[in-house]
Amino acid sequence: MSTPTNPAPEPDPVVGVDSVLDIHRQLMAELNDASMTADGMPPEDEEPDTIQRLLAVIARENAEPRDGFEPVPFWVACVFGTLLAWGGYYLGTNTADFRKDVFDRSDLRMPEGGSAAANVPDPDPQTLEELMKIGGQKFQAVCASCHQPNGQGKPAENIPPLDGSEWLVGDQASAARQCRIVLYGLSGPVTVKGRTFNGVMPNQGNIMKDYEIAAVLTYARNSWSNAADKGKPPAITAATVRAARAKEGTRKTNGTQPVSAPELQKLPLDYSDSGATPTPEKKDEKKDPPKP
Ligand code: HEC
Repeated sequence: MSTPTNPAPEPDPVVGVDSVLDIHRQLMAELNDASMTADGMPPEDEEPDTIQRLLAVIARENAEPRDGFEPVPFWVACVFGTLLAWGGYYLGTNTADFRKDVFDRSDLRMPEGGSAAANVPDPDPQTLEELMKIGGQKFQAVCASCHQPNGQGKPAENIPPLDGSEWLVGDQASAARQCRIVLYGLSGPVTVKGRTFNGVMPNQGNIMKDYEIAAVLTYARNSWSNAADKGKPPAITAATVRAARAKEGTRKTNGTQPVSAPELQKLPLDYSDSGATPTPEKKDEKKDPPKP
């Protein structure tokens, strides 16, 4: 059945057709013209032709990039080959025949009290100024939440004050006792400034290093109204803390073996752990060129 209003242009396959739009228009016209089959579809023999023409135009206008089998460029092959050869050579010369015992991780273990970076010794501050600086930072980070930045503690929560505490500056105060409080923690009743507290002071010995404990104690001994080390060399350095650890032997620093006030009181006030003051060798070490 032909439609006079839509005269079909001369079918001219692909050649001379410039755009999909053109071919579409052309096809529509053809379809309108074509005799339909009973089910309303164009006769079967027209289909391949129509679709092929459409595809041909689309393919020509938008040339799709294809997954290719282009040969690997020569220079890529060269670079890759060189790297591979170098890698093989490197493995061959550096792996000691892939023996599993050649690289022994236990060689990397830190010495006792060593720092994370291999072979870099911990700092060992000796002056009041240095200890106070490190100690101040540590105090704010570790102790202040309980004992408060102003050293007053929280009596309502069983946390005793440090400012004016006899355990830091009064008649219970000794370096050996203080080191043990911070190393192992303190539990059980303790009297501070006329009041008895019964809380749990957490152990720090498995968390803080010796010089840090020395610094934080020096800070507490010399802050607020406390002035235990005024005009003297600081009483507590890393060596003091180290000596207390050594004397306590296998006592655990993980909080399972805290000290108690009565136990501390068994240590005479003039008691000090042997080795608590820097040993001569240690002093010699300090004469090494000062660190920047
Ligand atoms: C979780 C809270 C808490 C933290 C953190 C804490 N303490 Fe304590 N501290 C206590 C309590 C509680 C006591 C009393 C323990 C008792 O009743 O036996 C105490 C007791 C003390 C004492 C002896 C009593 C006194 O008041 O002088 C000293 C010294 C001390 N702490 C120093 C420190 C230092 C230094 C730090 C930081 C390294 C620190 N504490 C961190 C809770 C804490």
